[in-house]
Amino acid sequence: MSPFGIGVIGCGNISNQYLKNLSAFPDVDVRIVADLDAGRAKAQAAAYGVPAWGSPADALADPGVALIVNLTIPAAHAEVSGAAIAAGKHVWSEKPLTLDVASGRALLAAADAAGVRVGCAPDTVLGAGLQSARRLIDSGAIGTPLTALTLLQGPGPQTWHPDPEFLFAPGAGPLFDLGPYYLSVLATLFGPAQRVAAIGRRPRESRVIGRGPRAGAEFSVAVPTYVAALAEYAAGQAASLLFSWDSPLSRVGFVEITGTEATLAVPDPNGFAGDLRVRKAGDEDWTVIPSEGAAAGRGSGVVDMVRAIKDGRPHRASGEMALHVLEMMAAIERSALSGAFEDLASRFDVPEPLDAQWDPYVTAH
Ligand SMILES: NC(=O)c1ccc[n+]([C@@H]2O[C@H](COP(=O)([O-])OP(=O)(O)OC[C@H]3O[C@@H](n4cnc5c(N)ncnc54)[C@H](O)[C@@H]3O)[C@@H](O)[C@H]2O)c1
Repeated sequence: MSPFGIGVIGCGNISNQYLKNLSAFPDVDVRIVADLDAGRAKAQAAAYGVPAWGSPADALADPGVALIVNLTIPAAHAEVSGAAIAAGKHVWSEKPLTLDVASGRALLAAADAAGVRVGCAPDTVLGAGLQSARRLIDSGAIGTPLTALTLLQGPGPQTWHPDPEFLFAPGAGPLFDLGPYYLSVLATLFGPAQRVAAIGRRPRESRVIGRGPRAGAEFSVAVPTYVAALAEYAAGQAASLLFSWDSPLSRVGFVEITGTEATLAVPDPNGFAGDLRVRKAGDEDWTVIPSEGAAAGRGSGVVDMVRAIKDGRPHRASGEMALHVLEMMAAIERSALSGAFEDLASRFDVPEPLDAQWDPYVTAH
């Protein structure tokens, strides 16, 4: 079967990882790259051997493009994904799905009406690390999963991102920027949540760019940069979560799932690989279990989506799961202001696990 035609809109920082992978995965063919900044699109086309570059409208008008990969900033996600759906294209979006739940819901409704699909990052949940954790838990290795503890703390991305303003604007902050990784792991392992509560803080009103051509420039911070949350899942599990860019100490990728028989440490949810570690009551140390499966990186979710479209089955990193994660983040932010528990309405079907042989580099189609 011929590869699926892809148009990429948004040629910034993360487009490098996507273009490197998508141009190597046999199920997809990147036909055009586009950006509001034509120079960026032209440079990425040259760097990754993409045959065409242009404006977002050029990508939407390309008859060879069946799916748009939206790598724009969060504030543009709803508009760019909406335009792709209106043009009859399937959409894979970077996270978060949109800035708010109403526009996320409207986007999924528009896709349903148009008969196209929406998939959403993070596709790290399809990586060897989390998929091995999922298979291990399903095998009963930790007993019944009861609770989770996650930690993400550090000084913040103004230290490394050359244009970090959007990361401190609505739709970002540590909760909306990195929350999707942690919350999607728990969504994959526990299913939907039913209520959340949180405390939020914004200790600094402005920050200074640390690197790149604009180093030294000051910009304002619009969102909480410390968020401590509690989540209760519909199936009964509970989680404690910390998202902070107000810590000189960096500690990222900490996710522990505790069951009736053991605790499982899952590899960094912002990565695709890593060892699992299991500790049972009475153990003096962790037992290390190497993860199994593909760890091909960003764009893996696009391949699963394209294969699912061809096979007529649900894709795994779904718009519905992303909408639930978005609703969770919005409710966490609301709770940080209200001080009350906030209920969640959205639900999604927990995706089937991938088997260890799944590989986006080897096409079965
Ligand atoms: N940088 C990372 O490490 C990283 C990692 C994972 C996910 N992401 C996500 O990827 C997305 C992009 O992040 P980034 O770091 O690449 O940002 P970036 O600012 O480096 O790049 C965004 C690009 O989108 C373009 N753009 C903005 N609005 C547009 C519009 N309406 N139409 C067309 N192009 C538009 C900009 O010109 C820019 O080239 C965000 O959603 C972010 O959360 C980033």
